[in-house]
Amino acid sequence: MAVSPETVLITGASSGIGRELARCFARAGSDCILLARTEEALRELAETLESDYGITAHVLPADLSTPGIGSTIIQNLNDRDLSVDVLVNNAGFGVRGRFSDLDPQRQVDMIQVNVTALTDLTRRLLPAMEERNRGGVLNVASTAAFQPGPFMSVYYATKAYVLSFSEGLADELDASNVTVSCLAPGPTRTTFVEKANMNETHLFQWGVPMTPETVAQAGYEGFRAERTLTVPGWPNKIGAAMVRFTPRSIARGIAGWLNR
Ligand SMILES: NC(=O)c1ccc[n+]([C@@H]2O[C@H](COP(=O)([O-])OP(=O)(O)OC[C@H]3O[C@@H](n4cnc5c(N)ncnc54)[C@H](OP(=O)(O)O)[C@@H]3O)[C@@H](O)[C@H]2O)c1
Repeated sequence: MAVSPETVLITGASSGIGRELARCFARAGSDCILLARTEEALRELAETLESDYGITAHVLPADLSTPGIGSTIIQNLNDRDLSVDVLVNNAGFGVRGRFSDLDPQRQVDMIQVNVTALTDLTRRLLPAMEERNRGGVLNVASTAAFQPGPFMSVYYATKAYVLSFSEGLADELDASNVTVSCLAPGPTRTTFVEKANMNETHLFQWGVPMTPETVAQAGYEGFRAERTLTVPGWPNKIGAAMVRFTPRSIARGIAGWLNR
């Protein structure tokens, strides 16, 4: 019996790293379900992927900051008779500033998108992958996951969660053919930077941001190679390794300076 083509659900596919991850999977022949709020951008990408790679691309507009959105998404997939082999939890955003000065609702929305929706979608889609004993989950964290980040305290904490959660799950599924992989990019030139108000930070003034294409390709290859963690780019790899040997007070001091 022929195996049906793999179907990949990518959150945050309307721009940046998510759009490029969708391209990586489509190029390899996977059908895609593209999820984000901006329906027009998803439709444009779906048309491009279908004509460039001959795959089927579905569009699923959804706002992941809406509490309970996970069950609505699953209902939508069921109504369209779509099953998900690979879940790419890429959608996310950051906000920069002193915690007490930032909009409280935006902070809660950030936790909802970066943490709660990611966990909920994984919980709802993973059991079927385990039953089929194939596919997996690719979570997008950040090098922010490796230490606390003053002036982006909530964002860094959400990404520490994503990394810890991914590593824990990867071990739970060690004996199966289901892969759990985490991509931890450093600074990347996407709309994230303007939205998080990070253009003027030392991090983006001094660093050399990577392109979303390179970051996505590294994440895709890491997932296919069943690597639990992929840190793209040598400067980011070195930075992540050095954090392990640096006292936490110094590591968070450096992160705080970079975020200023
Ligand atoms: N750029 C960096 O320097 C960097 C570094 C490390 C990690 N990351 C991580 O990489 C991931 C992708 O970010 P990016 O750099 O590619 O930024 P981006 O271009 O701003 O893309 C973010 C994506 O998330 C989606 N999204 C945001 N809020 C959403 C919501 N409420 N509901 C549904 N979708 C939502 C956006 O779509 P809509 O606006 O259309 O909803 C967009 O497709 C994020 O998790 C980010 O934390 C980025």
